[in-house]
Amino acid sequence: MQQINNLAAKIEKFQSQISSSVQRVIASGWVILGPEVKRFETGFAQYLNAGHCITVANGTDAIELALKALGVGKGDQVATVANAGMYTTTSVLAIGATPIFMDVDLQTHVVTLEGVKQAIEAGAKAVVVTHLYGLAAPQIKAIAEYCSARQIPLLEDCAQAHGAERNGQRVGTFGDAASFSFYPTKNLGALGDGGAVVTNSDAIAQRVAQLRQYGWSSKYCVELDGARNSRLDEMQAAILSEFLPHLDESNARRREIAARYRNEIRHADVNHAEDQGTASVAHLYVIKSTKRDALQVHLREAQIASDVHYPIPDYKQPVFGKQFADYSLANTEQLASLILTLPCYPEMTDEEVSTVITAVNGWVA
Ligand SMILES: Cc1ncc(COP(=O)(O)O)c(C=O)c1O
Repeated sequence: MQQINNLAAKIEKFQSQISSSVQRVIASGWVILGPEVKRFETGFAQYLNAGHCITVANGTDAIELALKALGVGKGDQVATVANAGMYTTTSVLAIGATPIFMDVDLQTHVVTLEGVKQAIEAGAKAVVVTHLYGLAAPQIKAIAEYCSARQIPLLEDCAQAHGAERNGQRVGTFGDAASFSFYPTKNLGALGDGGAVVTNSDAIAQRVAQLRQYGWSSKYCVELDGARNSRLDEMQAAILSEFLPHLDESNARRREIAARYRNEIRHADVNHAEDQGTASVAHLYVIKSTKRDALQVHLREAQIASDVHYPIPDYKQPVFGKQFADYSLANTEQLASLILTLPCYPEMTDEEVSTVITAVNGWVA
């Protein structure tokens, strides 16, 4: 069976680096918030050309703590998209804030400046832009300028876009803060949960550093409200430091696979997104088909896994009951019925890629 991802292949490839970094941490006797966390935070901030990186326990906490550090509180309205798996919405709800959902562009799957303008006019106090499927949102610079001029805090969710760039600037450095996830299958993934907030602001960095550790200003002195324990452990940090130098090379391999799909999958009922060069780090390769469900069945019969990222727009999630019954975002809903994710990860062999291409091209729709 061709899986959508193959973590075992990655672990095998980096076996010796993983073992030695884990051994190093064990031998040091320092397992929480020690030198490895510091080293990774410094390295990742440098990689992005950002002022600060503060690691946390996962990407959802990163969104929540970043929004809190940006001043979002109970009752505030936060603009987000509804096609990105409910992660931002979960964080918004955890704060006691309310989401305002923005529609996305049909071709790029991400939010536009126009969508952001509408949400701010509707009362959004903060905006979250998700760089979905690995694509740096094409209008991120214009969105950042627009928000900044109105003093609306902008958070970039980069959980799927480590290393993606627009005009030489990496995502995570356009807005006031950015969130990252190091979930194992991400472009930069740990061997467990992990996340980070990145920012150029000293004040935001300091607030996040406090929010991840009980709100302490110093040991046992609790200063900030809304805090928790959300720390990356030393072993994950050490492993991430081993993977970080390989990120560009693995992003390039993902792009290579994406390019093969784009060029070699030729089927009347399959549509590709446009090539975006280094603006995309090809986290997920997502095609569109009006017969998506039939294609998925065909692939399953050919022993190829595929997935839908994501099938339910956030405002239609059962947790909301009838709260958002009036919402209808045309592009978001259309995309939810058309999209299908094909296997795409750096360790995938050329032969495996060819098998997927042949299977899709052989589909009788
Ligand atoms: C776009 C996006 N945002 C946020 C998250 C949340 O990250 P985590 O699973 O580490 O909480 C994820 C992934 O899971 C994601 O894909």
